[in-house]
Formats: sequence, C-alpha cells, structure tokens
Amino acid sequence: MTDAVSILGSTGSIGCQTLEVCARLGIQVMALTAGRNRERLCAQARRFRPEMVSLEREEDAAWLRRELADVPSVQVLAGREGNLAAATWDKADTIVAAMVGVAGLEPVMAAVREGRTVALANKETLVAGGALVMPLLERYGARLYPVDSEHSAIWQCLAAAPAGSLKRILLTASGGPFRGRSLAALSGVTIEEALRHPTWTMGGKITIDSATMMNKGLEVIEASWLFGCPPDKIQVVVHPQSIVHSMVELHDGSVLAQMGFPDMKLPIQLALTWPERLPSDGRSFDPFAASPLTFEPPDLRTFRLLDLAYEAARAGGTLPAVMNAANEQAVALFLDGRIGFTAIADLVSACMERHLQSGFMTAFGFDDMMEQDRWARGCVRDLAESII
Ligand SMILES: NC(=O)c1ccc[n+]([C@@H]2O[C@H](COP(=O)([O-])OP(=O)(O)OC[C@H]3O[C@@H](n4cnc5c(N)ncnc54)[C@H](OP(=O)(O)O)[C@@H]3O)[C@@H](O)[C@H]2O)c1
Repeated sequence: MTDAVSILGSTGSIGCQTLEVCARLGIQVMALTAGRNRERLCAQARRFRPEMVSLEREEDAAWLRRELADVPSVQVLAGREGNLAAATWDKADTIVAAMVGVAGLEPVMAAVREGRTVALANKETLVAGGALVMPLLERYGARLYPVDSEHSAIWQCLAAAPAGSLKRILLTASGGPFRGRSLAALSGVTIEEALRHPTWTMGGKITIDSATMMNKGLEVIEASWLFGCPPDKIQVVVHPQSIVHSMVELHDGSVLAQMGFPDMKLPIQLALTWPERLPSDGRSFDPFAASPLTFEPPDLRTFRLLDLAYEAARAGGTLPAVMNAANEQAVALFLDGRIGFTAIADLVSACMERHLQSGFMTAFGFDDMMEQDRWARGCVRDLAESII
C-alpha cells in the first residue's frame, strides 16, 4: 500500500481522479506536475499541500510562485526539471504517470532508476520506450503497475494464474463513437463528434485515439511489454458495453475476465493499494443492468490505425516510437481543425513507410528514439502541408 505519491499530469482526467482516490484513502501527495492548466494546479496545491509543484513553461511557474507566495512550503519548478524532480521525489514511494504523450517516458525511466513503484496510465511510455524501460525494472528493483483499465484487468486475471499458463490475451475495446461506420462515412466527421466517447470520459488526445482505435493499438503494444506476450497472441475484441475490461485465456482453456461498470478510480486505487483490496466508492455491479454483453471482431479496414499498430508491434525497433509520435502530431493537427479525421491514419501510415525506407533501427537508445520522434513529428507536419 502506498503512503505517499507524486502525480505527473495531475490536472488531467486521470490526475484529478487519482487525487480523489488519494483524498479518500488518506494517501499523502508529495509532488504534482502539469502542462498549462496553472489555475487548476494552483487549486490542487492549496488543497493537497504538496512539497513541490511544476508547470511546463517557466512563465506559468513564475505566475504560480506569485499565487502561492502565502504557502512557502510549496516549491514551484518548471519543465523537464520539474517532471524529473517529481518522478524522483524522495518521500514519494509511488509515482503516478498520468501525463499524456511520450513526454512521460523520461520521468518514468528516472523513477524506475530510483527503484520506485510506477503506477502507469501514460501508455505512450511503453509504446515508444518499452525496450528501454523493461530491462531497467529488474536492474533497479522497480515495479510497474498498470492503471489502464484493460491492463489492470489482465494483471488481476494473471495474478490468479500460475506463471507460464497464459495462452492469449483478449483485449476489449468499446469500439469508440464510430463503431459500425464505413471508412467513407468517417471522412466528414467533426471534432465534436470524435470527442463524444460512448462509455468513458477522458482527455482529448486519448478520446480521439479511441475514435480512430489507435488507442487499442497503443494498448496492444503496451500489453505486449507488460505481460511479455507477442502481439499476435493479443486479440482485440470489440465489446461496446465496456463491462468486461479484458480477459486472459490460459493453456487449459479457462478464460478469466475482470468486470465492472466503467470507472477509472478502481484501477487507479488498485495500483496504489496493491495487493490490498480496500473498499471503493464505485457503483456496485448489477449484472441485470449491465446486460446484454456483446462481443465482435474489430473492423481493421475502417480503423486502419489498429492494423498499423500491429505492424509496428511486430516490426519492433524504432517503428512503434515513430508511429506514436506521428499519431500525437496528427491528432494535434486534427484537434486544431487543420486536417480531417481520416487524414490521421493517412499521415501516420505515410510516415511509418518513410521511416521503414530510411532511419529504422532495431536496437536504439533514448537519444536515438527522441531523434526519431522529432523526425516523425516534422514528417507529419510536412506531409500535412501538402493536403491542407
Ligand atoms: N483518461 C482515461 O480514462 C485514461 C485511461 C487509460 C489511460 N489513460 C492514459 O493516461 C494518460 C493521461 O490521460 P488523460 O485522459 O488523463 O489526459 P488529459 O486529461 O489530457 O491529461 C493530460 C495531463 O498531462 C498533463 N501534461 C501535458 N503535458 C505535460 C508536461 N509537459 N508535463 C507535465 N504534465 C503535462 C496535462 O496538463 P495540463 O492539462 O495542465 O496542460 C494533464 O494534466 C494518457 O497517456 C492516456 O492515454 C487515460
């Protein structure tokens, strides 16, 4: 059970829910970091009294220092320095990685090198840098506990199975707001339509990833690293009700599932209390209200990004990092209203093809990966110019 946490990305959907869980369970909050939402971070600092807070930009940090002048116990930092300080804050035994994007990778690696427990919501970390993070865990005696509801479900199911008994993972997906539509019908969808998720309330980037199903592709790669399972033994199963959070099939044919009404506070709590099971404040499960439960295969022709994620997972090396960076850039362009919805997959696919022709590396370090990440973002911006 965690006594004290640092939360990276405390102003976002997962960050705010983590703070609610901490308040309810009496877990101390030592450090909080955020991007640009300085008002919300200021309010969190006043309520939770961490020892340190940090914002992405120095100008926002300067504003926060003035706002918190009457609370001298709170130190205010900025940017990379703030995220690294939070990730290694000496009084925090668990680091909650709840920031969005590959920006989470470096602080997670720093926390792992300090032998901390990382509660990982940020899926981009393992997608881009699984090959860098996983070998460090054993070397530094650190632990990585999943927060993503699907990975938490798989983790809980595998805790009840002997090592080596996993046959395959059945990773469930809601299917997003455009389930059942054809590729042609997706060309005109608006930002507002894409941001309307049927079962989960989440940050903007992950909501768009859910609409394109890239989110499920990122989760396939994340699951492959977390559970040492080859991508071809991870079957995505569309389950629109989001009640079964994922399943594992064991060698003897048993299938174990973890279920419940959609509520991220449960996997967050479990990552902070593992292996303890404390009471939660979620809605009690009602099988009659949850019925019927349906399952269908994903449409890989319409949701091409899921197929591309499998391709990246099979190829390994720098391809998943490039795919991830290309997707982050393309989603940002879509949310800025500069490209259409289906252009996200076109741009990611074209960028991956270019990377395979030149620049692809099977073995890489952190700096190589970040260089390819920057290249991919530039590549997508250049390609987008030609279609705008
Ligand atoms: N939401 C979910 O239900 C859910 C479920 C599973 C996994 N995840 C994963 O969890 C991560 C967060 O998702 P979310 O839905 O919570 O996203 P979100 O609501 O968009 O929040 C993102 C957080 O990251 C912060 N951030 C951005 N850049 C930062 C930087 N440079 N340094 C520090 N913090 C920074 C944001 O700060 P500002 O807002 O202040 O700019 C915000 O606090 C994503 O990787 C997502 O895939 C989310």
